[in-house]
Order: sequence, then C-alpha cells, then structure tokens
Amino acid sequence: MSQTINLALIIGSLRKASINRVFAEYITSQLPEHVKIEEVAIADLPLYNQDYDNQTIESYDQVRKQIKQADAVLIVTPEHNRTLPAALKNVIDIASRPHGESAWANKKVALVTASPGSYGARDSGLDVRKVMQSLASQVMIAPEIYLSRATESLDDGQVSSERTQKYLNKFANELVDFIGE
Ligand SMILES: Cc1cc2nc3c(=O)[nH]c(=O)nc-3n(C[C@H](O)[C@H](O)[C@H](O)COP(=O)(O)O)c2cc1C
Repeated sequence: MSQTINLALIIGSLRKASINRVFAEYITSQLPEHVKIEEVAIADLPLYNQDYDNQTIESYDQVRKQIKQADAVLIVTPEHNRTLPAALKNVIDIASRPHGESAWANKKVALVTASPGSYGARDSGLDVRKVMQSLASQVMIAPEIYLSRATESLDDGQVSSERTQKYLNKFANELVDFIGE
C-alpha cells in the first residue's frame, strides 16, 4: 500500500458557485485513495497585518499548520483584474510569516487556474508562480493548466466535457508523481 500523502487544497474563489471549486473537486476526485485532501479555509482570515506576528490569531495558526504539515499544496484559482484574488494573496502572506517561519519554503505547490474568458486566468497563474518562487516553494512546472472558456466544460455544476476530464485526469496523475518525487 502507498504511503499517505497529505495534500492541502486552496481555492482562490470565495464564491459559492465557483467554477474553480468545481474543477478542484473534479481533480481531487481523480486522486488515489492514499492522497488525503484537506481544504485550507481562506474566506474568514483577517487581512494580514505584520503587527499580528507577535499575537496569537487562531485562524492564522490553523492555516500555517495545515500548510506546514501538508506534503504539497494544490491551488485552484480564478483571476481578478489580471492577477491573483486578494483572498489567495492574503493566505499566502499569512503563511509566509513571521519572518523565518514561512510555511512555503521548499513546499511543493501545484497550480490550476480557470476563467470563462479566453486566457484561462493565465496572468493569475503566472503571478502565483512568481510569488511562490520568491518564497522558495517548489512549483510544479508542467503541465501548466490554464482552463480557458471554462464554463463551456461544465454542466450542472460538474465537469461534463470529456476532453477537459481527460486533461484533468492527466494532470491528477502528474500531480501524484510530482508529490512523490
Ligand atoms: C473582481 C473581478 C475581477 C475579474 N477579473 C478577471 C480577469 O482579470 N480575468 C478573467 O479572466 N476573469 C476575470 N473575472 C471573471 C472571473 O473569471 C469569473 O467571475 C470567474 O467565474 C471567477 O471564478 P470563480 O467562478 O471560481 O469565482 C473577474 C471577476 C471579478 C469578480
């Protein structure tokens, strides 16, 4: 039996009907049983403030612990105004501090972006890559997944397009290989 892999999942959208959540759920449903998924809840995190570094903020402790303990983090996110959503940047910042205690150093990070638009939230993905690089994370280089015209792959809150399913299945397999490397 394979050893358990702990995968933390961050969904960059706070929206109930988020298309990124649908893709995240599809991808995680394709992972083998030994990959345990734990979502990092980002919606109610107070906006990061360096003054808090000397205080105990339970929600901060919780997300820092989740990310530190995870073997890898999967980020599935939309793009807001050509970059990553503020709530995603907030959790990245929270887990990068206090100075010297970053949860991101050497952390394996995989990334998927999705948008109804033609560019698949690619700028958001590229910006997340840039941020994670500055934090010395090990970002999964390939395949790069920017799901464009993403609503066309969905029906009734599910990934209905066989082509997209195949593509995401391949990504799920490569994700497991990446985490196991
Ligand atoms: C504040 C805001 C800014 C947006 N900016 C972009 C953008 O720069 N590029 C893009 O492709 N879509 C943009 N969108 C549209 C989102 O891609 C779309 O709302 C998508 O459904 C968001 O993903 P979600 O369903 O997972 O929340 C923006 C949406 C909002 C609310």
